Amino acid sequence: MKTLFTDISRLIGISNAVKFGSAMNQLESLENAYLLVENGCILDFGKMENTPESDAIISLGNREVLPGFVDSHTHTVFAVPREEEFVMRIKGASYEEIAKAGGGILNSARKLRAISEDELFNRAKERVQKMILNGTTTLEIKSGYGLSVDAEIKMLRVVKRLKAAFPITIRATFLGAHAFPEIFKERKDDYVELVIKDMLPTIIAEELADHIDVFCENGFFSQEQATKVIQGGRKYGLPAKIHGNQLGYSGGVQVAVSNECWSVDHLEFTREEEWNLLLDSFKSDFGGTLPVALPGVSYFLGLPYAEGRKMIEKGLPLVLATDFNPGSSPVHSLQMVMSLACTQMKLTPEEAFHAITVNAAAALRLTDSVGSLAKGCRADFLVMKSENSLAKMPYFVGQNQVESVFVNGEKFIS
Ligand code: NIG
Ligand code: FE
Repeated sequence: MKTLFTDISRLIGISNAVKFGSAMNQLESLENAYLLVENGCILDFGKMENTPESDAIISLGNREVLPGFVDSHTHTVFAVPREEEFVMRIKGASYEEIAKAGGGILNSARKLRAISEDELFNRAKERVQKMILNGTTTLEIKSGYGLSVDAEIKMLRVVKRLKAAFPITIRATFLGAHAFPEIFKERKDDYVELVIKDMLPTIIAEELADHIDVFCENGFFSQEQATKVIQGGRKYGLPAKIHGNQLGYSGGVQVAVSNECWSVDHLEFTREEEWNLLLDSFKSDFGGTLPVALPGVSYFLGLPYAEGRKMIEKGLPLVLATDFNPGSSPVHSLQMVMSLACTQMKLTPEEAFHAITVNAAAALRLTDSVGSLAKGCRADFLVMKSENSLAKMPYFVGQNQVESVFVNGEKFIS
């Protein structure tokens, strides 16, 4: 069955080539266009004067159409928000101080252990629903609020259920190495062993993870421990992503590049040395380590913003993600992330758009199926409320510019 979507004022994002440096500012679009969909995938697109034969026709009423957004870094499965810590920070406590006193990630871990898998699933499901209505049609979700074999598995089972409950593409990342539980405070290497020897094999046996991740930061996992975790995952064929350079120059970029991680995320603290390493990684066969900036964290924790402007000028393929989580970024909208990237990091709307579509798909190695409207990709697309929607998204701060969301060629109804 072929469905023809007609009357598209501008079809934006029609190639799945990763955008490096100055290419991030160059839009690939077609005006006055149609989109032909078969079996949930894009069969063709073209100008309205050349519309092909089809079984059904749906007019999109002269609206702009964009590819569905790709959120390549989130912690969407959590028990409850942490607004009490937010208030503590307003009154002067720092994120690190709260974490050291047993709050932060450990607070989320305690809360998560106290609720059932069903309840955790129901709460996450509501969040995913909202994210889709804001344009996200590909979503990565991490574990990391379990920190024990049972609780990490509980989280990843919830992600597996979310995969089945929604038509969008969801990818699961095992982040057992997110923080050290209280009882391992004095024997951190034992916790690393638990992650590698106990958690990983169980997760692999149940096919619960698509990637592995580790928080490589001063006060969290050292470069050596992070390397062990990544290599532990590699033994089972799990590709790695990494949290690094959030609170300081943690060496996260060095660990990521030397271990062929698909992305290194956060990057609030980077300089020339790190940018050059990232650039060089694209000369290797594994496809390079993509830099993922998370401006929601800088906004919410008052940290410096990642130097996205400079990274683009260096020629890097920048990615933006929400990092949606209850501690450092309670931001679920990639449109809000675009706004922060444009106003604070000085990205153009075109650059920010590529950073949440095709480049974000590359951070998940999914450019063949999502992140653009190239032929053969999934028909995941957004019908926008108004013209010039790329600039309107960052401009109308906090407003949703997406009129309707199509996933696999079907309108998403919440
Ligand atoms: O990506 N940096 C580490 N992990 C999360 C925050 C987790 C939390 O505070 O709950 C992040 O920012
Ligand atoms: Fe994160």
